[in-house]
Amino acid sequence: MPYSPPETQHLDSILPTEPLLLMGAGPVPITHAVARANGVVINHLGETMDAVISNVKLMGRYAFQTVSDKIIGVSGPASAAMEMAITNLLWPGRSVLALSMGTFSGRMVEMAEGVGADVTVLKSAGIEPVRAEQVREALSKNHYDVITMAQGETSCGVEMKCLPEVARLAKEHGALVVVDAVCTLTTMPMQMDEWGVDAAIAGGQKGLSSIPGVSLIAFSENAWEAIESRKERQPHWCLDALRAQTFWGAQQYHYTAPVPGILALHEALRQICEETLPVRFERHRVSSIALQSGIETMGLKLFVPIKDRLNSVVAIQTPKDTESAQIRKIMSKRFNVEVSGAFGLDILRIGQMGEQCRSHNLFKVLYALGMSCRQQGVDLDVSLGMAELERNLVIDPENLVD
Ligand SMILES: Cc1ncc(COP(=O)(O)O)c(C=O)c1O
Repeated sequence: MPYSPPETQHLDSILPTEPLLLMGAGPVPITHAVARANGVVINHLGETMDAVISNVKLMGRYAFQTVSDKIIGVSGPASAAMEMAITNLLWPGRSVLALSMGTFSGRMVEMAEGVGADVTVLKSAGIEPVRAEQVREALSKNHYDVITMAQGETSCGVEMKCLPEVARLAKEHGALVVVDAVCTLTTMPMQMDEWGVDAAIAGGQKGLSSIPGVSLIAFSENAWEAIESRKERQPHWCLDALRAQTFWGAQQYHYTAPVPGILALHEALRQICEETLPVRFERHRVSSIALQSGIETMGLKLFVPIKDRLNSVVAIQTPKDTESAQIRKIMSKRFNVEVSGAFGLDILRIGQMGEQCRSHNLFKVLYALGMSCRQQGVDLDVSLGMAELERNLVIDPENLVD
């Protein structure tokens, strides 16, 4: 034996005894039923899996609000689903107007450059979305085959509220609309067909409250025509939408699908359908607004003005003379609650996606945030903030937030 085995460590000695409450920008907590589904392995081909796939597509259509049957699961992070949209709709000779307002919408710029498309970047003027006026002007000057954007830019907590208007403008100019709905899908309206979205991307670990690593994408019929019209060779094999459709459309082998993750997604989507979208949107709205008022009343400042603020991931300014990393460390060590830092911005981010929007989680995260800031010398009125949260959480007989 040339090599001897390394000294091993049991997982229990690495994982915390009490799991941290995941209140950051994702992954988010999953329900017991989703976790159970994620623990099952079945054959990736055959009658049972066929039934699972056809259900995921059916429920996916409801989540995306589309009648399109081109709903495809992607074995990979949400970035892989973004890459599936980009690599199938863009190639050398095709042009894209990429709306960039942070890390994730900016990621699609890099991807489009990577596949050799002709890329024009339209940046927002700071911590705000790209405005419809900017898009109108850009579209009036040039033709673009595709326009890309994120509905919710989680890196800085900005929502692109003018998305329906931008999609309409893009349609008028014959451009396909690609939307990153990774954190927003099922947390707020995303009307794929009504708004004219041609590719919508969701990750498992955010709005859908499933596991990371298995994502979902929906293509419109127009997008599919563009994909089928391609003459150039598709450089990707796993991310080739036409190949992927052999599994997701004809239920034939493409590659061995991540069965447990798809079962988890099935259960997460089933719970969404059972809750229904209007009730789910309202739960998210009430929960996030209550949290925001609690944070402000306590004495902290929110990073994004209300007109552009994203409810799914709330960005908070790090209090003066403190460090975001230090506050987060106290939150996790002393209170077992995890929130996120950011990519180069001096903010803390609290997620409001799926299972995060439950009253017991809200009270815990707000208390942990307030007390951790206080430990760092910030003068806050934690009790007033907690009372404000309670006052705003409209827990009606139908248990909107519970
Ligand atoms: C809006 C948005 N898009 C895309 C991604 C990328 O997701 P993943 O890390 O699963 O690739 C994220 C992750 O935080 C996100 O928030």
